[in-house]
Amino acid sequence: MAQTIPHNMRVISTNKEMSQACREALKPVGLVPTMGALHPGHLSLVGQARADNLTVAVSIFVNPTQFGDKKDLQGYPRDMEGDINLLRQHGVDLVYAPKVEEVYPDGFDTWVDVGPLADKLEGLHRPGHFRGVATVVSKLFNVMRPDRAYFGQKDGQQVVVIQKLARDLDMGVEVVIMPTIRELDGLAMSSRNVQLTPEQRQAAPVVHSALCQAYLLWTDGERDGDKLRQAAQEILRSESMVDSIDYVSVANISTLDEVERVEGRAMVSAAAHMGPVRLIDNLVLE
Ligand code: PAJ
Repeated sequence: MAQTIPHNMRVISTNKEMSQACREALKPVGLVPTMGALHPGHLSLVGQARADNLTVAVSIFVNPTQFGDKKDLQGYPRDMEGDINLLRQHGVDLVYAPKVEEVYPDGFDTWVDVGPLADKLEGLHRPGHFRGVATVVSKLFNVMRPDRAYFGQKDGQQVVVIQKLARDLDMGVEVVIMPTIRELDGLAMSSRNVQLTPEQRQAAPVVHSALCQAYLLWTDGERDGDKLRQAAQEILRSESMVDSIDYVSVANISTLDEVERVEGRAMVSAAAHMGPVRLIDNLVLE
């Protein structure tokens, strides 16, 4: 158990106050953007931000523009009180928890379009998702002007999109990527996992197993993209709790184009539906 040290953490809900708090804060400032319902995956980003910076800011905002489906948005897990307690225990200085109207006031109309990256993999199945992510992350960067921002490899395509966004738009933010935190059985931690039934939860590590199979073949010297994709597909298909598979991909790490042969760094990733949850995961071949 982490010891709770008395700690002065500010919870702020307006842009103006948050900008001012960040301007006056000790530098460097590290930002961890989240949608809340925090778990150890989020907290690993917070821990790294704490180690690297004099001020740690965490945003908690369930961003409506990155959800395609209203029901998905409404059903997204929320636990503001629990999150705030956790962040206090982890030595966070500033929490930014704005209302939707603060981030998207009436008449909001300017979007960040991340180009072809947004239309691949996740983007194919969640149109508009990365436009929403890129827009809200740009806004968070503008409000807080952090020196560093922390993201998890769990959302592999998001990592590629954010790195490109930061470069293309000269954000002046160092993007730090942290490894995927997993349950003991390999399931990547996710706020949505609580929506799985016990039976589905038991079967859910199959996504990680499928990716591991491709990874193993690759370490054995297999470089044929189709062979690697097939191996992962087979494992996913063998699990009857998987309702449908959106994709199994072996893609170039910067363009996210499917590769015929794995030459440089590649990302093997998959998305599959299990009941109400869409499970995504990835491993980097490097
Ligand atoms: P959210 O899903 O809350 O995730 C916040 C951050 O935590 C992301 O960078 C995500 O990759 C990271 N994360 C989630 N699960 C993780 C795990 N098991 N291991 C390591 N890191 C993990 O991603 C978002 O929110 C949003 O798209 C956001 C970037 C906040 C923009 O709205």
